[in-house]
Amino acid sequence: MKYQGPWPREAKLGGVLLAPSILSSDFAHLASEVASVESHGADWVHVDVMDNHFVPNLTLGAPIVASLRRHTKMPLDCHLMVENPEKLIPDFLKAGADGITIHVESTKDVASCLRSIREGGARCGITLRPHTKLGEILPFLDQVDLVLVMTVEPGFGGQSFMHNQVEKIKSLRETIDQRNLKVVIQVDGGVNEATRVYVEGVDCIVAGSAVFGASNRAAALKALS
Ligand code: DX5
Ligand code: ZN
Repeated sequence: MKYQGPWPREAKLGGVLLAPSILSSDFAHLASEVASVESHGADWVHVDVMDNHFVPNLTLGAPIVASLRRHTKMPLDCHLMVENPEKLIPDFLKAGADGITIHVESTKDVASCLRSIREGGARCGITLRPHTKLGEILPFLDQVDLVLVMTVEPGFGGQSFMHNQVEKIKSLRETIDQRNLKVVIQVDGGVNEATRVYVEGVDCIVAGSAVFGASNRAAALKALS
């Protein structure tokens, strides 16, 4: 079932969507891990897909997304940290991904990847490594539903928030507002109760260790909202 809900700002009346990253969950109990954050008010499930080429880590593929699809009503927000995502996009669409985000650095044909995601009925997103300039993604702003700003180097959970990305978030917000676009700004990496203040005004927060690593997940989600 595809996500057909309203956009974040309308959905949460100016609030922020929370997307716990299962990268920090117990992979042996994924269904109950996801159910646990769903019951405590999470909005989306963030699925970090890593191929050990684009990033030096290996996680999971479309079969896990297909299994998760049967165990949660939350939208499955897939962040592809893979080289040549065009080869995998059809599998993720088929598996029931509601949103697919690709890295601008990961393919020679960003536009056609974005097109195939949209045509496949999913929300399409673009993201960039912390050291990639915002200008690299701006040509695609009219073709995406979401921009993910990475606030850690992609590859691992539990890293420290990169404060030098805050200007990028602000500049993106200004551009989106000036152009009157309906694009979701999502932030991913090192967001926790202490760094939450630096991402004020974004539409969607991804948090892995701050949610799945917390002894009280309800309180952790509340602190991020
Ligand atoms: C990093 C991933 C993130 C990561 C976030 O490559 O994209 O989604 O899981 O984890 P925390 O919140 O622990 O930084
Ligand atoms: Zn991610």
